[in-house]
Amino acid sequence: MITLYSRSILLLTALIFFSCGRKSAQKDADETPAVTRMSQAAFSVMPDGRKVTLYTLRNSNGMEMSVMNYGGIIVSLKVPDRQGRVEEVTLGFDSLSQYIANNPYFGALIGRYGNRIGNGGFTLEGQKYKLPTNDGTNQLHGGPKGFDKVYWDIAAGSDSASLTLTYMSPDGEQGYPGNLSAEVKYTLTDNNEVRIDYRATTDKPTVVNLTNHAYFNLTGDAAKNSILDHSLEINASHFLPVDEKLIPTGELTPVAGTPFDFTTPHRVGERIEGDDAQLKAGRGYDHCWVIDDPDGSLKPVAILTEPQSGRRMDVLTTEPGIQFYSGNFLSESLVARHGPCAFRSALCLETQHFPDSPNKPEFPSVVLKPGDTYNTTTVYRFSVVE
Ligand code: GLA
Repeated sequence: MITLYSRSILLLTALIFFSCGRKSAQKDADETPAVTRMSQAAFSVMPDGRKVTLYTLRNSNGMEMSVMNYGGIIVSLKVPDRQGRVEEVTLGFDSLSQYIANNPYFGALIGRYGNRIGNGGFTLEGQKYKLPTNDGTNQLHGGPKGFDKVYWDIAAGSDSASLTLTYMSPDGEQGYPGNLSAEVKYTLTDNNEVRIDYRATTDKPTVVNLTNHAYFNLTGDAAKNSILDHSLEINASHFLPVDEKLIPTGELTPVAGTPFDFTTPHRVGERIEGDDAQLKAGRGYDHCWVIDDPDGSLKPVAILTEPQSGRRMDVLTTEPGIQFYSGNFLSESLVARHGPCAFRSALCLETQHFPDSPNKPEFPSVVLKPGDTYNTTTVYRFSVVE
């Protein structure tokens, strides 16, 4: 079975390379730039026997992104530095069993609800919904078996630069109403952009908040370097303070004069140990910033730069919020591809609606109704600085 499967994968890969190779040979002759190419390889098999394939997109600048069916996870993302050295900038594991056993959401698609919903439930249109909890009394990242742990079908785009992942979440799954049909498209462009388009439809009123939980360390060596020397800028003049359970209090607090002010670039480590009640509550940064003037269009919201490698990552999104999580729960007891995961050796910039919005009518709505389409986009754009 497996041999037959690997053989057909090999054949498919060869065919894809052959046709892409032909295309790029023609393109070279025409002196137009080469395009992103896709290849695939068997990664593993799910405990229930379903095949997990690793799809790899490569662009004309040597940038590479690999994605698998389990959790729709970005397993690897390799990006050139200032010298053109292409290195890994995200955390990941080598094997599926490690992802299944204990993954703190490395590279995963998060749904149905990114971040926390307090008190394990919410009320929608007069009906109470109870959610299975997995973070004390909260539900975190869609519950004990969120979208990060389900099998996504993957179809390669005809442009060979994109992958479309689909998952049908049945009515009642992890406590949420409605059959939710989710679609996530990953594109790697020749401008060194990872573009993620999220879409969803439902057959009953429900709540949705999808994101990706990639952990970044732009140095290219998470074994040696923390993220404290990365420099961060966030276009947000307010953030959401949290209570002791990391649920937003509902207030929008101005960042001015606080360690949360990233309206100009600051080293992540500059103020992280400061005497600040919110930093203590989050064990560091683990908060949602309120993007200035969101209007649903794709806007630049954050810039992360790393001085040693020169790598720069711009985050653009249509979302009204961005969760900056400084890797405060990482610990060396977790061993990933690069080795033990030291405290704050990677950070996340999760674009999203606000945490606990289903219980906070004053926050932008996360309600999706039958007939409407949930539609958001986030772009991680890579470049280098001198
Ligand atoms: C999010 C949360 C954090 C933590 C991580 C996963 O960023 O805000 O508190 O749960 O995910 O470890």
